[in-house]
Amino acid sequence: MKKLLLTSLIIMCAGSALAQTAGPLPEAHKTNGMPLMQALNERKTTRSFSDQTIDEATLADILWAAAGVNKDGNKRTIPTALNRQNISVYVLSANGAFLYDAPNHALVKITDADLRQNKDAPITLAYAADKRLLDKDTYSAMHVGSAYQNVGLYAASAGLANVVRGSFDQDALEKGLNLSDSVNILVTQAIGYPAN
Ligand SMILES: Cc1cc2nc3c(=O)[nH]c(=O)nc-3n(C[C@H](O)[C@H](O)[C@H](O)COP(=O)(O)O)c2cc1C
Repeated sequence: MKKLLLTSLIIMCAGSALAQTAGPLPEAHKTNGMPLMQALNERKTTRSFSDQTIDEATLADILWAAAGVNKDGNKRTIPTALNRQNISVYVLSANGAFLYDAPNHALVKITDADLRQNKDAPITLAYAADKRLLDKDTYSAMHVGSAYQNVGLYAASAGLANVVRGSFDQDALEKGLNLSDSVNILVTQAIGYPAN
């Protein structure tokens, strides 16, 4: 009996550590966090991470901050030109790669492969822009910038470390995610807990 309880406990703990699985995400904590001015003051790039994983609730908050729906049915935490919403956020982790389905606030599995190019952080976000939806690259870059800044501010508020990286193997990542020619990954953002 004791052994059974211990095994169940281990499975439960492992389950909560394995944050990145497909399906609905917990609702984001929309009234949490430090005051905005304090988050702005504390936002920074951090390039070293501890081994601590990111739990599902925190991942849900990160993704909602990045590009979640916050009003009027399908409008987002970030503004987009003509409300074209032409960017997508992918989550890369040891458990595979996932698309953030913002309208359903859920993860859709793309592949079992670990596509993180820097494996020191538990997750990397990859920001994609779709040219079919908005034929203006500068606007796409602005949209992605809004998203990684939202995540940077959330990270400051939640005590997470993050680094935006423009330097990555774009072809390999786009291939790994099976993206069509009209979709490009503009930038990545590694997130985890800071190294002690
Ligand atoms: C679009 C963009 C691309 C970046 N690319 C990289 C990168 O490839 N590697 C890296 O270590 N940092 C990268 N950074 C992080 C910057 O070096 C960092 O933001 C800058 O030094 C200022 O530091 P701060 O974010 O702490 O204010 C990038 C930042 C942005 C906004």
